[in-house]
Amino acid sequence: MSSDDQKRRAAEAALQYIPEGCILGVGTGSTVNHFIAALAKSRIRISGAVSSSDASTRLLKAAGIEVLDLNSSGDLEVYVDGADEATRHLALIKGGGAALTREKIVAAASRRFVCITDRSKVVDVLGRFPLPVEVIPMARSYVARQLVKLGGQPVLRMGVTTDNGNVILDVHNLAITDPRGLETEINQIAGVVSNGIFARRGADLLLVGNDSGVEVIKP
Ligand code: A5P
Repeated sequence: MSSDDQKRRAAEAALQYIPEGCILGVGTGSTVNHFIAALAKSRIRISGAVSSSDASTRLLKAAGIEVLDLNSSGDLEVYVDGADEATRHLALIKGGGAALTREKIVAAASRRFVCITDRSKVVDVLGRFPLPVEVIPMARSYVARQLVKLGGQPVLRMGVTTDNGNVILDVHNLAITDPRGLETEINQIAGVVSNGIFARRGADLLLVGNDSGVEVIKP
């Protein structure tokens, strides 16, 4: 089974965690695209969605789902999103799609974060996937030098401007043995908007599509 089929399995399994009539947080990426398609086909009727990216907003609207502003929606019951890496302790790396800051905001405002991935994303130690860091453009070189001091090798993601008008540094060669500590430390660097470690607010539930079904990982 391809990893895309595994993603679809995880996405479909997430439907059972969506309460009827709720306002839903919706993330970004190919796994979430499967989720939006499955939600549109399902009988579940939600009151609306808060989206973490312009790309997901377009898909939600095309599926006839109203997209709401987080400033008027209040806290959300559930947030569904993918990840680039996930540990069995439910710490994540996100931001491969450059939407990490909005994803972090929507995750923070949600009571439950249901993360959906394929089997290849589950790791013992985060960091094989280069860590995305969103940076104010004028601070790019300064932040890159600080990230080198932390042991990483930052690379500017060429041709990418985030939905917030910033740039992304992808940090290679980090073995992230203390996700909560490193998340905090990188956030202290002036010019960093947010980083792709989701450990202080990690997932509450991880649904991993594999060849035989869907593994449910809880804290
Ligand atoms: C978007 O910025 C990311 O955090 C995505 O959630 C992550 O890259 C997962 O993407 P796929 O579902 O496409 O693997």
